Amino acid sequence: MDENINTIHVLFIAAEAEPFIKIGGLGDVAGALPKTIRKLSERSSGDYGIDIRLVIPYHADIKKKSFAIEKIANFQVDSISGQVPCEVYYSNQNGLPVYLLDSLAINNNSPVYHADPLLDGMKYIFFSKACLELTKHLKWPIDILHANDWHTASAVYALKTTYKRDPFFKDTKTILSLHNLPFMGFGAQDALTKYALSPGNDPYLPDWAKHSPLPLGLLTADKIIAVSPNYAKEILTPEFGCGLESFLQTRSSKIMGILNGIDTNIWNPIQDNEIICKYDSGTLTSKSKNKTALQAAFNLEISQEIPLLTLISRMDPQKGVDIAIRGLQTCINESWQAIILGTGNPVIEQMANDLANKHPTHIKTVTKFDAHLAHQLYAGSDIFLMPSRYEPCGISQMISMNYGTIPVARATGGLADTINNYKSNRADSTGFLFTKPYPSAFKCSLQRALKLFYQKDVWLRLQRNGMHQDFSWNKSAASYIQVYRSLIN
Ligand code: GLC
Repeated sequence: MDENINTIHVLFIAAEAEPFIKIGGLGDVAGALPKTIRKLSERSSGDYGIDIRLVIPYHADIKKKSFAIEKIANFQVDSISGQVPCEVYYSNQNGLPVYLLDSLAINNNSPVYHADPLLDGMKYIFFSKACLELTKHLKWPIDILHANDWHTASAVYALKTTYKRDPFFKDTKTILSLHNLPFMGFGAQDALTKYALSPGNDPYLPDWAKHSPLPLGLLTADKIIAVSPNYAKEILTPEFGCGLESFLQTRSSKIMGILNGIDTNIWNPIQDNEIICKYDSGTLTSKSKNKTALQAAFNLEISQEIPLLTLISRMDPQKGVDIAIRGLQTCINESWQAIILGTGNPVIEQMANDLANKHPTHIKTVTKFDAHLAHQLYAGSDIFLMPSRYEPCGISQMISMNYGTIPVARATGGLADTINNYKSNRADSTGFLFTKPYPSAFKCSLQRALKLFYQKDVWLRLQRNGMHQDFSWNKSAASYIQVYRSLIN
């Protein structure tokens, strides 16, 4: 990158990032967003280039894969019980510089997220502090520290407390992106103490939140960016604020929302090698070949006239899979078929399996992670179910619309921002939304979709509307660049 006096230096820090490691949606975002920001800023001829670099922990699972990674440095991180060594590895991912930090504090052979909150706390508080020490060690002063979720939120807090008087960070501004508010890093109190981070002392911060990384980051960030504009508003309410709503209201001038994107090179039915028959919005009849192939593979009746529903999700209470299962049970005698793909909570998996076992002719369940099958389901089904209890942004609904598969989803978070609820007089409708997280509300919305499925011209319009939307990362990246610039000015 050509360095000029106006270049903005951004350190983007996260617990996971594709292609190195992906557990959830954060991995998609940290894999795509910094890369796109860097590319976009290289292409634009504006005053400011963005030298953005990514830092993630060098997780044990990354070491098992073969990436071009070299060791470039090591340094020490202070703690109250002495210095903790940290090793720095480097990799270049299509032009994006990536640092991977390794240390006994990070890598006791533990998984990316540990079930023990204290161990997880020790790992991520260390990592957060090590990210700041890394920039000093590299003598690379940063204009912006961009942290994500609780795992890296304490880096934001440390900058405004422990490092407050450090001239190296004199002009550094901070952003905290919020992908999932309920995960606050509870249990990390001893880890904060170990790395000399004192509890928060804001009068509006509830006592229970004063020792947890995410609230402390929210307390001190110059900007809080939720991953959709609607989630940015929802977190100010008791239903979604997780007890922090009153505190967040005092910070509302710092809060905004920017929608995530999807990788439109991977999720694009006209160039998707994983599906039986490629298509675009002009050749939607070819989509039916994908449906036939699915029906055959799953031993379902082969017919274009039976709507095929699909649900692809982590089996987690957040995702409301149980709401859909209960709702489907109550309209079991109507004409539809369903394929459910996902893994996670054993109780929800069992519910899905029970449903399929009871109605084997028209419901199938696959309880595993299967990316290849996911492509085929997006392409081959008619309706995509996304009954989330909360959904900060959501990715699958955007993918399904790109594949001309109509979403039936709860009107929450990013789902409400990306799906236009069907109304007969609304030309830009793209799907069906329901408000309450109840099986009955889900069922009503599904039945509206099932009815409209047979009005072929209207259905086609919905499909095309969805496929013509721009869900690429370029749009999000451009918005983040604007925020970076506004913070520097
Ligand atoms: C979390 C949220 C999800 C969001 C993702 C990426 O996984 O639950 O809604 O899409 O983060 O921001």
